[in-house]
Amino acid sequence: MTILGIETSCDETAAAIVRDGREVLANAVYTQIKLHQPYGGVVPEIASRAHVEKISGVICEAVREFRERTGGGLETVDAVAVTYGPGLASSLLVGLGAAKGLALALDRPLFCINHIEAHLHTPFLYDSGETPDVPDPGSIMPALGLAVSGGHTTWIDMPSYGMYDVVGQTLDDAAGEAFDKAAKLLGLGYPGGPAIDRIAKKWYDPPALVPQGPDAFIPFPKGRPRSGVSALAGLDANLCTSFSGLKTALLHHVNATYGAGPDRTIPDADMPRLAASYQEAIAGVLADRTANALKRRSYRALIVGGGVSLNGRLRAKLAETAAAAGVPILLAKPKYCGDNAAMIAALAFFRRNLTGDAAFAADVQPTLRPGDL
Ligand code: KG4
Ligand code: ZN
Repeated sequence: MTILGIETSCDETAAAIVRDGREVLANAVYTQIKLHQPYGGVVPEIASRAHVEKISGVICEAVREFRERTGGGLETVDAVAVTYGPGLASSLLVGLGAAKGLALALDRPLFCINHIEAHLHTPFLYDSGETPDVPDPGSIMPALGLAVSGGHTTWIDMPSYGMYDVVGQTLDDAAGEAFDKAAKLLGLGYPGGPAIDRIAKKWYDPPALVPQGPDAFIPFPKGRPRSGVSALAGLDANLCTSFSGLKTALLHHVNATYGAGPDRTIPDADMPRLAASYQEAIAGVLADRTANALKRRSYRALIVGGGVSLNGRLRAKLAETAAAAGVPILLAKPKYCGDNAAMIAALAFFRRNLTGDAAFAADVQPTLRPGDL
């Protein structure tokens, strides 16, 4: 089954065509990063406008790539899939509208898909012509999923493929947001995750030698929430994180060390330790919570997806955590870590939140949770 997917939940306009839930035949992504850079974060109004301007061109690009690869055109696509949540309402609307129109015009079924669930499908994607080196998702259940992106930090129990139960999450900022806000404070630009990752690498140089000793890292808070707080909403505190204290600790450290005024300068020489310490706090708590979650039951895989899973230090720490638990870790190729539509088209083969008339009648769901319909 060949599915065309559309994704516009945040600041990437994307379309892709995927066969049988894994083989990517075409993948087009227009990233709006440059448009949002001057503001240090995603501006919803700018994002939705850019989606409107770009969506047709991006779909055409995916169809062109598909035609070059298979010789077939849009008429050979069996269904249309689209992200209907979570995300920015005004951005989601653009993709959902385009997908409805396309499905109606082609007289094909429409499937509505959850963006976070789709991130957890990314390790199963492979490019057409390659041999997949990851088994089929159904064969490695139950699995623990970790979605880490600019908008989400969520641990998800997957008893069988297509079933999702949130067992842990951040109580405030997402990990990517924590990176982005820190980078803004440090004057490193947007998006902050890649910048902090890059600068922090200098502190771990040579890469095999993580600096040791009391001065290796600035002791930032570890982001472990106390049990009993209402924000946990019934979740186990040992499986949740909080990054707002970490962000404030960085601000206090910077103010105390370099001054709080507008003419403050942070010497370049101090940046690698600052970035590495901050990154270490985030990667450390994500690995720690993952280790706790892996004890819940005898999982057969740890599946990690989302833009923050590009982080080198996080990848290393999660790999150690999974190895210690005796569980294989599945990570996506770098090009499928950030937002893309291949994950939407692919997941739709296995899991459809809304189909039939319900899909055509669907509205966007900005706060949709994994496992919701
Ligand atoms: O999954 P994604 O593309 O979009 C959302 O669904 O949010 O994730 C974007 C986030 C941004 O916050 C960005 O700073 C972060 O992923 N990110 C990284 C790295 N690359 C992207 N964070 C840490 N290290 C990286 N190398
Ligand atoms: Zn995402």
